[in-house]
Amino acid sequence: MTWKERSSMKTLIKNGMILTTENEFKSDILIVDEKIAAIGKNLSEEGVDKIIDAEGKFVFPGGIDQHVHYSFVYQGSKVRGFETSNAPALGGTTTVIEFVNQVQGKGLLESIDEFKTKDVDGIAMVDYGFHIVMTDPRPEVIEEIPKLAEAGYPTLKLFMAYKGQFFHADDDAIIQALTKGKEAGITVMVHAENGDIVDFLTKKLIAEGKTGTYYHAVSRPPVCEAEATRRAIYLAEMANAPIYIVHVTCKEALDEIRAAYQRGQSVYGETCAHYLLFDESVLDQPNFEGAKYICSPALRTKEHQEPLWEALNKGWLNAVSSDHCGFDFAVQKHMGYGEGKSFADVPNGAPSVQNRVNAVWTYGVCEGKLSRQEFVNVIAASPARVNGLTEKGHIAVGYDADIVVFDPEYRGIMGVANSLEGVDYSIYEGMEQKGRPETVLLRGQVIVENAEYVGKKGQGKLAKGKPFGSAYDKFEKA
Ligand code: URP
Ligand code: ZN
Ligand code: ZN
Repeated sequence: MTWKERSSMKTLIKNGMILTTENEFKSDILIVDEKIAAIGKNLSEEGVDKIIDAEGKFVFPGGIDQHVHYSFVYQGSKVRGFETSNAPALGGTTTVIEFVNQVQGKGLLESIDEFKTKDVDGIAMVDYGFHIVMTDPRPEVIEEIPKLAEAGYPTLKLFMAYKGQFFHADDDAIIQALTKGKEAGITVMVHAENGDIVDFLTKKLIAEGKTGTYYHAVSRPPVCEAEATRRAIYLAEMANAPIYIVHVTCKEALDEIRAAYQRGQSVYGETCAHYLLFDESVLDQPNFEGAKYICSPALRTKEHQEPLWEALNKGWLNAVSSDHCGFDFAVQKHMGYGEGKSFADVPNGAPSVQNRVNAVWTYGVCEGKLSRQEFVNVIAASPARVNGLTEKGHIAVGYDADIVVFDPEYRGIMGVANSLEGVDYSIYEGMEQKGRPETVLLRGQVIVENAEYVGKKGQGKLAKGKPFGSAYDKFEKA
């Protein structure tokens, strides 16, 4: 054995049914160190350190969740952080992309670096990237935007909602970000809701004594999302830049995206698992239970769900994210409970990173709403392309060996008892789960075995993205 062979770690995944975005085929996968080195039938076992038997299992790329919040603070309350990032691993997600709010008065990269050093390095259990949320669009901050590309952070987000919060952005900030971002291939993402409408309706509802959790949905109806989506699309057209709409929830917003898409404009978007699975009735429950489902945009009526599945199949939406936000119920969600309190005092967001892949499989693939190929696309391949992660999101030679060996025969129940999210509730409590990740590899290292997390704190690495991600596909690249 040569020195080189001895120093390499070789793992062979045998006889799995490999799922790609194009097809599926039974094959072996040889992993050498962090990369996929070969794919083929009957690959040699010689010199292999570890064999994983995947007979009867599906094998697909580790999920990429491009929308998580491990640093979100709402009205002074902070979510659970990267110390709970074994949860995505257990759920078959090997890369998460975090939205980091720019600290007021600080730069974009400075804000990311600070968060990374303090809250991520040595802690993350899956690979990670960052989208900066621009909160302070001073001229020098706008000038800094192209530097994000050089640093491996090719996206930037703006919140059109949340009027009155420091992270709310006006149209001026959006058009500037689009224009400057385009110079360097930065994809601008927006949370599209009209903050003024939400503010107006919230005040009106509270004045009328309509303070219960259900009124969260009434305070931000579909028109409020559709208006902001349309405005964002027009701003992007003005700037001749692509735009990405995060967490799309309703037919009206989809109509705007589809129309722009059909006009040839580079408008893309994602939805989240909870918008596909739940409707607004869960907001209307006794004992303040509805607060568990307060997230923004709000959950919609059932009639919006089929159009969302259709949009995923037709490519108008290209990812299913979690929008994971780990606020607990007992204390944090209860900030909106009691005398003088309302739905508007409840921190927005729900924990969901662990169940994203399982939910899309159980309620998408098993219900015939998505093919297995489209499943791979929306949970991994497409988010990789959007975020310029050119070595992730595929089972192919040369790619990172981020791999899920999935047991389709497993049957179980989702809920907080099985959750590593570190939150005292699960929005999926009591729901059936079909199939589960049995083994998960992160760059060749087994981090889930027999459906138990076996990885190490700090094992996750920064996954740098390249600029000119897939939202720029129709543009000439610099
Ligand atoms: O309610 C949500 N979605 N909370 C997280 C922040 C955001 O708007 O994405
Ligand atoms: Zn949002
Ligand atoms: Zn979010």
